[in-house]
Amino acid sequence: MSEMRLGIIGLGKMGEAIAAGLQRSEKGAKRWRLAGTTHSKGSAAEAAKRLGIACGIDNGKLVAESDILLLCVKPHQAESVLRAVAGQFRPEQLLLSICASITTAQLKEWSGGKPHVVRAMPNTPCLIGEGMTVLSAAPGVNEAGLEHAKSIFTPLGETAVVEESLMDGVTGLSGCGPAYVYLIVEALSEAGVKVGLPRKVATLLAAQTLAGSARMVLERGEHPAALKDEVTTPAGCTIDGLMALEEGKLRVTLIKAVLAAAKRSRTLRGAEKGK
Ligand SMILES: NC(=O)c1ccc[n+]([C@@H]2O[C@H](COP(=O)([O-])OP(=O)(O)OC[C@H]3O[C@@H](n4cnc5c(N)ncnc54)[C@H](OP(=O)(O)O)[C@@H]3O)[C@@H](O)[C@H]2O)c1
Repeated sequence: MSEMRLGIIGLGKMGEAIAAGLQRSEKGAKRWRLAGTTHSKGSAAEAAKRLGIACGIDNGKLVAESDILLLCVKPHQAESVLRAVAGQFRPEQLLLSICASITTAQLKEWSGGKPHVVRAMPNTPCLIGEGMTVLSAAPGVNEAGLEHAKSIFTPLGETAVVEESLMDGVTGLSGCGPAYVYLIVEALSEAGVKVGLPRKVATLLAAQTLAGSARMVLERGEHPAALKDEVTTPAGCTIDGLMALEEGKLRVTLIKAVLAAAKRSRTLRGAEKGK
């Protein structure tokens, strides 16, 4: 497959994580020639040094010299950044955005209507190749366009494609999800300390138990309830632990967390529109 030029607008935390992930993966490194921009000259020079790629502050030049543009600025910066370079886009280009809550219709309008538009919601475990990225294409994007978009994220973890109407829910689940999981790891680790384990050991037990159990779900493909039943011996210890979790309403609390974050994602979009 021939090399393609990927221009990353906004080499901040996520932009840099994606660039570094592509550089680490053999397939990604062969496929993409990377370049990027930031807002200030200082951060551009630092990103260029860390990644060993061209990085400046001229978004127009980046758009002119790229096949695919990956927009990684903060959501409230997306409109002004795109409007400023709308004239530089070409119809055969793909604009891929990871900005939370910004729709493909907004991206299409702000970029002048020329490029094909795909929206993606990655999460921070992309940093270590264990990410979850969900993509959604604007009307008119063909299979090849979506495949190009996907191929940026496959070296960084798992990918899925959904209808755009589901993207706020995706943000609430896998986009924000790492924060919920860190809270759970922290709580289990505290429990370990409470039963007398050294903190470092307690955190290892908590994190590896979560990672291993999640891998069981992914690899065995069974319903999580069936795997839970496997661990739960009649009159054993686990059922007592599960009863405590039910009493504390863990399930409904997690469901509410995802709904609250999804609602916020919708509100953010309203706030963007109202500007
Ligand atoms: N963090 C997450 O878990 C996560 C998950 C999924 C999606 N996202 C999305 O990822 C996006 C980026 O988030 P982040 O946490 O990576 O933010 P960040 O670290 O603040 O990075 C933003 C980057 O955009 C650059 N920038 C600002 N204005 C620019 C301009 N006019 N031209 C070029 N670059 C410009 C900034 O440059 P300077 O450093 O010079 O200001 C910075 O490098 C957000 O839209 C967010 O919704 C984040």
